[in-house]
Amino acid sequence: MLKGAIIGLGKIAQTAHIPAYLNKRVSGKLKIVAGVDISKENSVAFLKLIPDVEVFTSVDEMFRKTKLDFVDICVPPHLHAEYIKSALKNNVSIICEKPFTKGISEAKLLKKKITDSKTIFFPCHQYKYSPIWSNFNKFTTKTKSGIFLQFNIFRTTADNGFDDKNPAWRTDKKLSGGGILSDTGTHYLYLTSWILGKPKELSVMNFKLKENPYSVEDTSLAILKCEKGIAEINLTWAADKRANSAFITDGKRCLTYDGKKMFSFEKDKAKEISVPDASDKKTYIAFYEDLFLDFAKAINTIKFNKSHVEEAYDSVRILENCYKSAELKKTIRL
Ligand SMILES: NC(=O)c1ccc[n+]([C@@H]2O[C@H](COP(=O)([O-])OP(=O)(O)OC[C@H]3O[C@@H](n4cnc5c(N)ncnc54)[C@H](O)[C@@H]3O)[C@@H](O)[C@H]2O)c1
Repeated sequence: MLKGAIIGLGKIAQTAHIPAYLNKRVSGKLKIVAGVDISKENSVAFLKLIPDVEVFTSVDEMFRKTKLDFVDICVPPHLHAEYIKSALKNNVSIICEKPFTKGISEAKLLKKKITDSKTIFFPCHQYKYSPIWSNFNKFTTKTKSGIFLQFNIFRTTADNGFDDKNPAWRTDKKLSGGGILSDTGTHYLYLTSWILGKPKELSVMNFKLKENPYSVEDTSLAILKCEKGIAEINLTWAADKRANSAFITDGKRCLTYDGKKMFSFEKDKAKEISVPDASDKKTYIAFYEDLFLDFAKAINTIKFNKSHVEEAYDSVRILENCYKSAELKKTIRL
């Protein structure tokens, strides 16, 4: 049994990571024995969810007093680098929430440290475990070029965290690094690379559509030219209702997803592809369960695979260039 600690016991830890660790598929392999947070309220909530764990306010104290195999980092993005460094110093494997880091210089440094030390590192890019996006990925496996991919992700507002000092960290550039593009957009950037291959050029426009106190964009429109085709990613926190949809075509066939149902169309014949309901919490948690199981397998087989840290680094590199494109109002070649 591998023993781990969660660093940052807020919303995603309480609503997704902990339920995934407690699921019986995972609980025989990974056991959470400790947690770190500066919030008393979230530490109490953690103890209610997993009794018999130890809670600390300092990661150094935790490492001194607890023998661990891994940590799972769930603090806001500006703190990821600090806790990754601390985990590397203490020689434990690492799961880290997205985005990997707040900026490219931290990402570059940590990629080198993780690769040199061969520490097992998994970013929480859990959408790759979703049957919806696996179908999109499969759609492109035999096609080399000419694909058009579109993602539409509409929200009414930025989510607040359970961080009692700074619940609105997502809309504070110093803490988050950026707005909807970095928060939700990160998932669609790594999915785009997974489905269409590496981006070669990108062009992004960011906006503040709503009257709000955000110091970040609430709307972002990104176009990425990749090895296999073009992706258009439309993201907003200024919609009237929550909605997700996606579309992919190679000129002969297409897949459509309207947030509930997925269809494939070929020669005018439509076929429904059964996918789990993405709004069902169990479905969402199951992606984390699958990711955690792969993480446990990698630790148990001591199988360092640098593709995980490279993917984490690449998502920050692409993100950084998206912001550069929006700021300079220019297409950026990668
Ligand atoms: N993969 C996904 O789909 C997904 C979804 C939501 C959030 N996230 C990511 O998870 C991370 C956390 O998001 P959240 O919504 O849970 O935020 P949150 O605000 O709910 O939780 C953050 C927690 O970190 C704690 N914290 C703050 N400073 C700390 C410090 N110095 N040391 C220890 N703990 C500290 C806070 O007290 C809080 O409990 C972010 O990186 C976010 O982008 C990922």
